[in-house]
Amino acid sequence: MIEETAWAKLNLALHVRGRRGDGYHELETLFAFVADGDRLTLAPAEADSFAITGPCAAALAGEGDNLVTRARDLFRERFAVNGAVAITLDKRVPVASGIGGGSADAAATLRALAAMHMIDGGDPRLIQCAEALGSDVPACVRSVIALGRGRGEALTPIAGMAGTPVLLVNPGVGVSTASVFARWDGVDRGAIGEGDLLDCARAGRNDLEVPARALQPVIGEVLTLLEEQADTLLVRMSGSGATCFAMFASVDARDAAARGVAEARPDWWRMASELL
Ligand code: C5P
Repeated sequence: MIEETAWAKLNLALHVRGRRGDGYHELETLFAFVADGDRLTLAPAEADSFAITGPCAAALAGEGDNLVTRARDLFRERFAVNGAVAITLDKRVPVASGIGGGSADAAATLRALAAMHMIDGGDPRLIQCAEALGSDVPACVRSVIALGRGRGEALTPIAGMAGTPVLLVNPGVGVSTASVFARWDGVDRGAIGEGDLLDCARAGRNDLEVPARALQPVIGEVLTLLEEQADTLLVRMSGSGATCFAMFASVDARDAAARGVAEARPDWWRMASELL
């Protein structure tokens, strides 16, 4: 049996630079990954199966189409391999929440199948599968801090900030990525800077915050609550929302913030972890 964590994705900055002819947007984004997320197990079996368990499973129940089974099928096709597999997804991260979710699950499926078939993680066919499955999937396959360009799939790894304590908070509302992008105002506000990662992230922004907040004003409340916490290094919405995160100067500061958020909004989802 192979176990993989679908590490949650964060966008430390997300600059939308323009609309493209193919319906996507030209991005510049600083990807980072959290040392926690959904968990996937995969084992050889008599027949294919796919089960979803865990606290956030209900949101996916009944959906015939899942990025995990699409990743499985695409992998088999591209690598011309056979063999049924039993897959279980322990869904611990909210669905449609700006932190990778389905993309990270698809990436974990590709990593697990690559391991099972002894295929190198950098095999170009694996990256092609990832690109076909979604814009964030290539970044999620590697799960290292990186600058992403294009749809987000052209990656340059960046050193620094691994181990930084982080707290993720989601107010329990799902946001459709396509509808947030559709509300972007078309204004290019400039590139992500070069140099120290934290400085670049701080000087940057998430251009999807304004359109996401227009759809879900509660995102503003999440950001305010995180900004009120002590010793934050950066507070920002991730992806197209609604999950927001804070990075902290110490584990103690993160844990104090997690307690503060739990007290203020016991109904909101939280994940306390650190950057990979
Ligand atoms: O690539 P993925 O299927 O994850 O993207 C979901 C949606 O997000 C796309 O259908 C598109 O509307 C939007 N998107 C975009 N530009 C990107 C990435 C995603 O417009 N670079």
